[in-house]
Formats: sequence, structure tokens, C-alpha cells
Amino acid sequence: MIPFTFLFYATIVYALPHPFPDTTVTSPASTPNGPSLPFINPTGKVALLWTSIGLAVVTSFWQGLIVTIVTIAEGQGMWTFRFRIARYEHWWWTGVSAMLSTSFGLIIFSFLSGNSSDSLGVLTLSTATAVTIVRYAIPAWRHRTYIELRWLSWTGPSRTGISSTFGKFCGERPDWVGIQNMPRLEPIIPAPSDEWGWAVNPPKAIWEDPTALLQGLDEKAISRVVPTNGQLGRCVYDDGYDRGQVSLLWSEKEGFRRRVSRAITSVPSTLLHSVPSTYDGFNGTGLCLAMGILGRNKGLAPFQLVFDVHDRRKNERGVVRSDPKYKVTTEIETTSSWFPRPNKVMRSFYQKSMEEQYSGLGDEFVSVAVELALILLDCPPTAARQWLDQNLEQQSIELNQHMSNRPEGSMRTLASPEELQTLYRASYTSMIISLNYFDLAQHNRGSARRPDLTCFALLWLAEGGDAPAWWKEEWVETRLKEEANMLRGKWKRAASWLLGLDDVPTLLNLEEWPGWGATK
Ligand SMILES: *[C@@H]1O[C@H](CO)[C@@H](O)[C@H](O)[C@H]1NC(C)=O
Repeated sequence: MIPFTFLFYATIVYALPHPFPDTTVTSPASTPNGPSLPFINPTGKVALLWTSIGLAVVTSFWQGLIVTIVTIAEGQGMWTFRFRIARYEHWWWTGVSAMLSTSFGLIIFSFLSGNSSDSLGVLTLSTATAVTIVRYAIPAWRHRTYIELRWLSWTGPSRTGISSTFGKFCGERPDWVGIQNMPRLEPIIPAPSDEWGWAVNPPKAIWEDPTALLQGLDEKAISRVVPTNGQLGRCVYDDGYDRGQVSLLWSEKEGFRRRVSRAITSVPSTLLHSVPSTYDGFNGTGLCLAMGILGRNKGLAPFQLVFDVHDRRKNERGVVRSDPKYKVTTEIETTSSWFPRPNKVMRSFYQKSMEEQYSGLGDEFVSVAVELALILLDCPPTAARQWLDQNLEQQSIELNQHMSNRPEGSMRTLASPEELQTLYRASYTSMIISLNYFDLAQHNRGSARRPDLTCFALLWLAEGGDAPAWWKEEWVETRLKEEANMLRGKWKRAASWLLGLDDVPTLLNLEEWPGWGATK
């Protein structure tokens, strides 16, 4: 911002009254000591000069204002507001550059028409214009896709644990609006990072946090407002756990306003810049995006998520791969849709950062975080965008609803709680597989599927489960085929390894459907 401070002072000094040696000149042609354009008369000359100065002053004033707003937003932790305005930053800098260029053009004309005492103004403006364009406008345009991805990865649908007594009330938008309007004893105070901030057309959505909305209300009071049949609501996962909590998925679809995940408070400040970097100065874009995604999709039991990239689970059960020295990470990299994965060299630096961030959640969680961040570095922004737009970072709620028999009667034989737990525990592997083997061409056609059911089957098999009672139902085959269609390349082996098998199980061969249960 230094050029602007400089510009501001220079223009102020400039604008102070001082004798204009050339205002006494009656005709441009008679200016003795400088160039003069014949078609600009003295009035035009002064007008040019003052328009130029005015434009520069207005620009630097607005610029100062915006810089102040940004500084306050960052200082106060208003990250929703900050990330939101960052999406328009490249237009803002283009506007500033255009205004400064115009001002510069005008002062050049003024100079050429005989105001030769304006050399200081010419110099100031040329510096400010050049610096704005080179230092701010061009980088802002180059980083705009990242800024957009950052918005999506931090503000997408979010999973939150709520008391299971409230599970049956969590449904569509009208239910939530009803809950929002219920009388409560204490007002809800938003976290600073939730602030939407100043907006021309603020969205009319629920700004409160869903857990805060439910806090302090009792079941009876809500049941007067929200009709329920006693089943878990549409936006609640049934993960088969019975610990008094269920996992709620809430987003714009349920009528909530987008907001940056509150996990942002634990992110180091260098990663929150428009050009993020680690403390050591490495490229931090992958880290920042991955942290946004992981802040939203953990679910209730992050310790239990399976991602056996270091073969620990396999070893514990005595399962050995044919070539134990060949790393699973190498397989993930070489078979990836984004091969040759130039950023795989960042692995150890990212490992270090993610350990600092997530070591409390266990090794496998850290490994998922590293893998996700590295893939996000290497995959083209269009793919990441599609993936986030289709909410493939979240466990498939449709599949979970179906397997937990919602709406009632959709399953002939119900999935057991253990099966639902396995579905959840395989969900992080499913996330990595879906991004690493993402088939952009398929996804452009519309429908999106995450390999949740496939990963469930692999983990269930790895842990010694028998074919589930519902496995022969028709939807299973359809779903498995759709899931496989969305992936590209040799994903089956990596998925099997990550979920604790020594190789692709022949039982799950999709070409010989239905394999499971025939031989074992
Ligand atoms: C960081 O990596 C991303 C993805 O590879 C790339 O687009 C970006 O330009 C890099 N940023 C810097 C500062 O090197």
C-alpha cells in the first residue's frame, strides 16, 4: 500500500495553492519552455490538470478505505466477510488501475499542453499506475481461481454433532425457519468469523448456527412448531453410533447462509493470505483448501476413519501385500488422474504442517489431510471446482438415508448399525479416491457419485464381514456401477489397500456381478 500513501501525500501537496507560472500564458503556442499541443486552450489545460488530480485523490481515498476495511476484517477474524470480498478483488484492482491510468493519461496531456511544472505529478502517477498494475492487478487476476476455490472449500455444507433428541426435527428449510422464529431466553451471539459483513444485497437466509438454534429448546416446544414422524430428519446422517449424538449436515439447501467454517480460528495466518504460504515459505494453497474441507466433513468419530496408507491396519491383522516395500502413496500418485503429480515433492513439508494441525486426531487423519492437500495442488482448478460444487467432499447423504431406511420402506432389509458405521469410517478413503481418480468428462455430464458404497464394501470385507442381507437388492448394483463410472484409471487397487485389503478382492469384481457371497 506504500505507493498509495505516497500518491496521496504527493497529490495533497500538489493540490495546495501555489503559483502556476503558466496560467498567465495566453496562447499555447507562446509557451517558451516546454511542449504544447495546439488544440488545448488554457482553460482546457487547467481542467485537464485538476481532473487528473481529482481522479487520483478519489482513487487513493477509496483505496485507503478498502484497505482499512480489509485490515479490520482480518484483525477481527471476520473471515466470511474477508473471503467474500476477496472474490471481487481482481475487479477492484482493475478499477483502480483504470482510474489511475486515466489520471495518468490526463496529466500527460496537461503536461504536453504546457503545464511543464507538473513533472512531479507525472512521476508520481506513472509510478503508482505501474505499481498497481504489476504488483496488484495482475496477481489478483492470476489468483482469482484460487480465491474462488477457497470460498467454496471453506463455506460449503458442514457437518455438526447435535443431540440425538433433535435429529427428528432437522429437515427442510421451513422446519429451520420455524425453529429460528421460536422464542428463546437469550439472544444468539454469532462468532466473528460468521459475520456476513457489509453487502449491497445481503442474502435473506438463516444466519444462526444450527447448534445455537437448537440450544436451550426442549423437544416438546419444537414439536409444536416442526411436524415429525419420529424418524431422523432428511439432513441428518445415521452413522450407527449410539452416543446421544447424531451428525447434522447443513447448508444453503436447508436455508442457512454460507459461512466460513469455524475451524478457521486454528489456521495459521500465513495460510489465510491471498497468496498463502507455510512458515517456511512453501506454497500453501493446497493446505488452506484442504483445511477448509476437513473443517467441515469430519463427522462424529474422526479417530475411527480408515485410511491405511502405512499398512498398519493390515499388519495388525497379518495381511501382507505382495510387495510391502512398494508404498501405497506411490500407487496413489502413479495411478492418479492428475499423473505425473508434479507437487508430490511437497509431501514431507505438507506432512509436517498437517501433523502440527491434526496430530490430535490420529495418524490416519493426518495422512488423509496430506493426501487431500497434495491432490488439490495438482488437480486442475476446474476439477476441484466441480468436485466442490457437487459436494463430493461430504459423505453421500442420499446413500446414508437409503441405507438407514429413509423414507421408511425404501429398504426391504435394513442396514445394521455396524454397516452404517463402516459406511462412515470408509468415507474419508472414498473422498480421496473420488478426487484422485476424478473423471472430469463424466462429471461434466451432470450426475455425481462418490464411491461410498464401493468403499463400504471393501472395508466391510477387509474386516471380515459377510455379504449384507440387502446386498442382492437391485439398487446396489446400479449404485456400484454409477460409482465406478465416475472414476478414471486403476483406482480399485489403491482403494482396496487403503481400506485394509492385500489386493482387489475378486469377490467384488463388477464384471461378474453379483460376486459377493458366492464363494468365500
Ligand atoms: C501454488 O500451487 C498452485 C497449484 O499448483 C499454483 O497454481 C500456484 O501458482 C502456486 N503458487 C505459488 C505462489 O507458487
